[in-house]
Amino acid sequence: MNLVDRMVGTEQLATRSSYAESLHKIQLRTELLVDLDNIANGVFSPLNGFMGKESVDCVTDDMKLPDGSPWTIPVPLTVSEHDWMNVEAGVDYALTDAGGVNIYGIINIDSKYVLDLEHIAKKVFKTRSVEHYGVKRLFEWGKYALGGSIEMIRRYTDEYSQYLLTPVETKAIFLNRKWKSIVAFQTRNIPHIGHEWLQKTALSTVDGLFIHPLVGDKKKGDYKDHVVIKSYQILTENYYPKDSVLLSPFRTMMRYAGPREAIFHALIRKNFGCTHFIVGRDHAGVGNFYGPYEAQEMFSNFPDLGITPVFFKEFSWCKRCNSIVTDKICPHRGDDRLVIKGTWVRDMLVNNNDPPSELIRKEVIEYLRNEKDVFI
Ligand code: ADX
Repeated sequence: MNLVDRMVGTEQLATRSSYAESLHKIQLRTELLVDLDNIANGVFSPLNGFMGKESVDCVTDDMKLPDGSPWTIPVPLTVSEHDWMNVEAGVDYALTDAGGVNIYGIINIDSKYVLDLEHIAKKVFKTRSVEHYGVKRLFEWGKYALGGSIEMIRRYTDEYSQYLLTPVETKAIFLNRKWKSIVAFQTRNIPHIGHEWLQKTALSTVDGLFIHPLVGDKKKGDYKDHVVIKSYQILTENYYPKDSVLLSPFRTMMRYAGPREAIFHALIRKNFGCTHFIVGRDHAGVGNFYGPYEAQEMFSNFPDLGITPVFFKEFSWCKRCNSIVTDKICPHRGDDRLVIKGTWVRDMLVNNNDPPSELIRKEVIEYLRNEKDVFI
């Protein structure tokens, strides 16, 4: 599959920019500018714009796009009621930031519609509870939606831009390093030893590991983006072979849609050129909304995803084996085991207890101790 490229080339840039200046504007919140950037740079291939009603309905109900290709998360352009009322289908609009100051792109509106938020919440997030951050955000952003193909004139930039890689760039790096099999790792957390084992066990059977921590809107209580990235820099510098690992942030909002988001995450990493994708315990989960292996089970609905999921049972510390284990490789259970969870590390830090060095690398703990405000 070819990557979508909706960035306006240098030759047309001046013409398209002055055309955009002449258009009525639609203001986008930051997260949607990031979606725009991901669509334009092929991260969300095969999407070439924000989804219209038909796509949102297909994705919500059947987990596929109208052409039958797999897709699990709706990507509509939601706007204020005022903007929505003034938009006409079939017309081009300039896409700007929330202040309406900078123009980032152009959209040709082909669908102006109202989202059934309750239905989307139930299908995509499996709950209507606003205790779920993804659902809360869905309701807050509202039902007024637009769809249409886009062009991007200027990339969205923030403090991570210098570290971001596009799918074209990662594919070139993989080619250059002669990696044929690449396993991708999604994360929103600082690395504990369980994460390290997931990555290193998977890496043992392939050419390269692509660590791709998510930066973007996350819920209160999650680690701040720069803390996650810095922790990974420290970890990889100290404990990973340079020639088989690539670390780069992945900018998008966290949806917390568990099983559906696992498929979405895998499809995106396929676009970045990866052949394998790690799915462990409660991937992209939040609270108790999803079962620990529901995300893994979801992959049985997608035999032709084009990227191979690599499943792992929960890694925990076994006091009797004196090592990291899973139920598959260790006979001990119950009190013999220490569960390694991001929330558990967080509670220890909050209470001023250092997590044991078997469970989290001492250099990472040292950094977290010295860093103020590690949580959102
Ligand atoms: S996520 O929201 O990005 O999935 P997190 O960064 O905690 O959260 O997890 C990244 C990946 O590691 C996911 O695939 C998750 O299932 C997996 N994972 C995290 N902790 C463990 C663990 N202790 N055992 C097995 N898999 C784990």
